[in-house]
Amino acid sequence: MSKYLSASLMCADLTNLRGSITELEKAGIDYLHLDIMDGSFVPNITLGFDLVNAVKKITDIPLDVHMMVNQPSRFIPMMNLDEKDILCVHYESDIHIHRTLSQIKDKGIKAGLAVNPQTPLESLEYLTDYIDMALVMTVSPGFAGQKLFAGAERKVTKARQLLDELGCKAVPIEVDGNISLENGRKLSKCGAEIFVLGTSSLFLKNKSISEAADDFRAVL
Ligand code: DX5
Ligand code: ZN
Repeated sequence: MSKYLSASLMCADLTNLRGSITELEKAGIDYLHLDIMDGSFVPNITLGFDLVNAVKKITDIPLDVHMMVNQPSRFIPMMNLDEKDILCVHYESDIHIHRTLSQIKDKGIKAGLAVNPQTPLESLEYLTDYIDMALVMTVSPGFAGQKLFAGAERKVTKARQLLDELGCKAVPIEVDGNISLENGRKLSKCGAEIFVLGTSSLFLKNKSISEAADDFRAVL
């Protein structure tokens, strides 16, 4: 099972994104995680679609776009994503999420389906033909610097079991929220493969991005 590091750009130095992205490239980061928030699905507003397109132009690192917005299908045409990128939408964000996933896949972009802490994993069960990744939120989305929710390890373990039972061993689980070294180590054992890294482990005052990335890889 391969493991991938996805750097949460909302936690980078937003006054020097180009510099941060250069450091992330040097650190061998696998994805750039861009949190899109609408202030309604989550009580925060962060990065936008112009930034997604601007970042796409200056790096070869695949993008991992996390849509914390209601009715995300409205915004899919506004991003210049391709087959290397993941566009992840929340199960809770649209009553026709199957249609949204199909729309993403029809554009040749990898589709991710995210579930909030309280959302049952059964929500994945009939959509596995339309997803390339399952994002199990390990905090209530919207803010960096939060603490892992109590059921996170149990939920990731169960998600891996469910996907394997459904014949979806190739569908990786991503975890997002308070992925510290310790939480990363535990969740890796539970079956997580893609780790969204922010203030808990990658963007630290006392370590370079490369040092922090190497320290994280060492616990997987
Ligand atoms: C949570 C955000 C993540 C993450 C940031 O909504 O999607 O980017 O929490 O990392 P931490 O939790 O380590 O600050
Ligand atoms: Zn995120």
